Amino acid sequence: MVSDTVINRVAELRNQIDHHNHLYYILDQIEVPDAEYDRLMQELQGIETEYPDLVTAQSPTQRVGSTPLTAFSEVQHEQPMLSLGNVFTEQDLVDFDRRVRDRLAPAKTDTADKSDDAPESESEGKSEGKSKDKPEQENEAKTEPKKPLLEYVCEPKLDGVAVSLLYRDGKLVRGATRGDGSQGEDITQNVRTISTIPLRLQGDDYPKVLEVRGELFISKGTFESINEKALKQEQKPFVNARNAASGSLRQLDPQVTAKRNLEIYVYAAGWFEQGELADTHFDRLQQLQHWGLRINPEIKKMQGAAECQAYYEDIGSRRDDLPYEIDGVVYKLNAIDQQEQVGFVSRAPRWATAHKFPAQEELTTLLDVEFQVGRTGAITPVARLEPVFVGGVTISNATLHNMDEIKRLDLRIGDSVIVHRAGDVIPKVVQVVKNRRPDDAAEIVMPKHCPVCESEVSQDEEGIVFRCNAGLYCAAQRKESIKHFSSRKALDIQGLGDKIVELFCAIDLLKSIADLYQLKAEQLIELEGFGEKSAHKLITAIEASKQTTLPKFLFGLGIREVGETTAKQLANQFGTLEAIQNADQESLEQTPEIGPIVAAHITHFFQDTHNRTVIEELLTAGVSWPTIEVLAESEGSLSGLIFVVTGKLEQMSRDDAKQKIESLGGKVSGSVSAKTDYLLAGEKAGSKLAKAESLGVKILDEQAFIELADSL
Ligand code: IVH
Repeated sequence: MVSDTVINRVAELRNQIDHHNHLYYILDQIEVPDAEYDRLMQELQGIETEYPDLVTAQSPTQRVGSTPLTAFSEVQHEQPMLSLGNVFTEQDLVDFDRRVRDRLAPAKTDTADKSDDAPESESEGKSEGKSKDKPEQENEAKTEPKKPLLEYVCEPKLDGVAVSLLYRDGKLVRGATRGDGSQGEDITQNVRTISTIPLRLQGDDYPKVLEVRGELFISKGTFESINEKALKQEQKPFVNARNAASGSLRQLDPQVTAKRNLEIYVYAAGWFEQGELADTHFDRLQQLQHWGLRINPEIKKMQGAAECQAYYEDIGSRRDDLPYEIDGVVYKLNAIDQQEQVGFVSRAPRWATAHKFPAQEELTTLLDVEFQVGRTGAITPVARLEPVFVGGVTISNATLHNMDEIKRLDLRIGDSVIVHRAGDVIPKVVQVVKNRRPDDAAEIVMPKHCPVCESEVSQDEEGIVFRCNAGLYCAAQRKESIKHFSSRKALDIQGLGDKIVELFCAIDLLKSIADLYQLKAEQLIELEGFGEKSAHKLITAIEASKQTTLPKFLFGLGIREVGETTAKQLANQFGTLEAIQNADQESLEQTPEIGPIVAAHITHFFQDTHNRTVIEELLTAGVSWPTIEVLAESEGSLSGLIFVVTGKLEQMSRDDAKQKIESLGGKVSGSVSAKTDYLLAGEKAGSKLAKAESLGVKILDEQAFIELADSL
């Protein structure tokens, strides 16, 4: 016999744990430290082990995943799970809105618009009570009618997996996939492992039976860590976050699902019995949230098509910063009675539509592969493609990274390929469509000689990176080194863009970076595209760039593997250019984060007589920087700590924050990894924040950072 005291304690523990889960996963808040939460959980697990009869499916201990299934069973949806129609342009959206308005009040709106309804056959419409009386009402519409704006709920369209969750008496009893809309698969076991899905609803005013629908997804940060892990274990990575989500969900072993950190945003109430739901979609979502279900914070009410379009544009501009993938937005008529009036056409509602972002993946043909020589001589294969519209622009080139990537893709010239372009990211070939390969598809071979200077090409040990070792003898490397030297983070020569550098190199006006300081306005005036004013302006900018800093100068030299951060570390460690030039391998390796390979690149660079001459010429021309005080090793209270800065800061720029960290002895890195000590996260921090969270990296907001810095 189990005593009442034990039964009561179990109930109390479950209530407390559910409460903390709700705070943490749904409201993003905490009331107790992790250790206290762990103690509650351990106590509950202890009691349940001792009294197995007390275990229920809703107990918070049951999230870890039960025993594997052999197959998923089928689920018949009580109410079909619909799909959505699409709009792609602003005009499509305006037409969609007009069609909805016409259906709501056919007599009172612009009769000339009726033709818009043509593609949707009337016989398909399940909505009642309006098509019959249209003709008479149309005749009555003589004057220009006033069109009231309709209220829509705008929501991000998450690119994940649709799911139906069924709650009876507030308890999660079933989770199902959408399947074909009428019949899906029973994934209850897996759904139970997802922390953002409550096993019990909060409050007591929910309907006795409540089915909710939502999208399961994997955040960008989690997706990256899953793939990093897969690569480490030599497993195949997932192509995108949606595949990762659906792959993680369709696991017969719920323990696997449990580890994948799936999340949910619910977007609709489905079937319900014995209870009340609000009479607008927006208020229903608020009810769902009140019952402990997670809704997307970006959801907003908007009046009319123009505001919907503004919402689409706003979300589109922030798409890359959102911590999850979206492929568009969804507009839904807010008033439920209006939804009912407007009805459905085949398997999609007429009262809602998806406004898709331009596709980020398209099919095209690989016409050729060219080999580009970079600043350090690395030779990169670049795909020349049949031009294709993807991610909002037409592209005709895509990076192929290296020969290993070509091998991995099993790519041949003439292949049909899928290219991906997201945001400002460089377009990429992601897949070959093998069954479309033409018979004459040609193998891709790395040339034996540099395509620019004809010097012999060497390969690294793994045979991945190919290189032209001609250094500045190679015109391609010269050109790239000048672009690098004048770039923003190096000497920052305003107005000296890539095109101008290419022109100056082509006519031999520039042969090395030192030649920049020998340029005269008179030489430029004669060139096409230059006038007196622009020539003088550029010369003034070149002159101004002479006042620089040692880290910028070092970075600008383009030494292999010496990026911005390493350049700063070298400058701080040695203080002067001379000291760095004369440093031996061993003393270079004393510098934080410089290992034998980078140290070898540095000594090799400064031993080269050509490089020494160029540096002499630069100094003689007047390039200079303020002297640096070398920090004693123990100074700077952030020493040894690695920071990443992301998001929009209010009181300082990100560069200011980086400088502050470095001035206090800390290091700044560009990407979050397990080595990161702190993430300084401003407003709208995106995938870096998600990744830091998934790796357990400490997160500072701007205020906390300022307080930390001031206290040192
Ligand atoms: S509403 C009756 N809202 O998009 C309306 N769907 O083709 C049914 N999706 O697979 C869907 N985010 O899973 C709706 N905020 C959102 C959504 C959303 C993503 C997915 C949904 C379905 C597809 C609709």
